[in-house]
Amino acid sequence: MRRRRSERAAHARGANPTRRLRWNVSASVGALVVVAATVVGCSGSDESTTQTSQLTGAAAQGQSAVRDLGCTTCHNAEGRDGAGPTFKGLAGSQVQLADGTTVTADDDYLRVAITDPDRQVVDGYSAIMPTRKLTDEQVEQIIAYLDAIGSTSGS
Ligand code: HEC
Repeated sequence: MRRRRSERAAHARGANPTRRLRWNVSASVGALVVVAATVVGCSGSDESTTQTSQLTGAAAQGQSAVRDLGCTTCHNAEGRDGAGPTFKGLAGSQVQLADGTTVTADDDYLRVAITDPDRQVVDGYSAIMPTRKLTDEQVEQIIAYLDAIGSTSGS
């Protein structure tokens, strides 16, 4: 299973030019959705729930950011495998790395995974994740989002 996944990832790398085009399109569509969601979201949301559709504060901004930045092309929050691992349940979980070590996905790990993807490659995946220029604020918002949908979600 792991082997098939990395083959698919290698494929994705081969098809890079067209894929990148499609990311741009989906990124702009995502941005529109984000704007719409923000407008709607401001009219009132319930803070007592941790459902992904009703995240608030930094976590909600992180959720918008991963859509806006095109991260969701490769990562979903539904527990499904994509070109990259799912975001659901990631924070706080044990992650096996390609170098054979296992690490806990705490905030420090997530920060490195987001800002310097090739430093710690997840076992079974290819190092195809692009390095993006992100502001510290964006990184912290994304981490807040990942924490909110992580395996210790709710805390
Ligand atoms: C081209 C597809 C692609 C895009 C776009 C992408 N990633 Fe990734 N990401 C991957 C792959 C593949 C891995 C696993 C290999 C690795 O660790 O580099 C990964 C790993 C990660 C991990 C660690 C996951 C784990 O299970 O430990 C995090 C966190 C992450 N990405 C966040 C992001 C964020 C945030 C963005 C947007 C700024 C993003 N990714 C954009 C492909 C992608």
